[in-house]
Amino acid sequence: MTYVVTDNCIRCKYMDCVEVCPVDCFYEGENMLVIHPDECIDCGVCEPECPAEAIKPDTEPGLESWLKLNADYAKTWPNITQKGEPPADAKAMDGVPNKLEAYFSPNPGEGD
Ligand code: SF4
Ligand code: F3S
Repeated sequence: MTYVVTDNCIRCKYMDCVEVCPVDCFYEGENMLVIHPDECIDCGVCEPECPAEAIKPDTEPGLESWLKLNADYAKTWPNITQKGEPPADAKAMDGVPNKLEAYFSPNPGEGD
């Protein structure tokens, strides 16, 4: 199994998660992060660190499409290990529904 980043990360992108991952398996897009499923060791420490509650174990039902999105973009987006500045409107975006359809960007972030 692995953990996956899901919808509510989009445009919240708090990045607290990257600071605690022991294997540095987060990858940065323009407005969200993903986890590389082959690198994640399932330790679970990132899950409670996310203020947006966007990180879930892939054992939860209904996350197949999110697992694929994480796997696909982890191949091309740059690695990120240090927390940067979250979007200015992160709090306002927390909990907005259907962010994937409305706001997802396939563009890479800057990484570190
Ligand atoms: Fe990293 Fe552990 Fe989270 Fe996987 S579960 S992404 S290894 S902190
Ligand atoms: Fe996203 Fe939560 Fe990390 S909002 S960047 S998964 S701390």
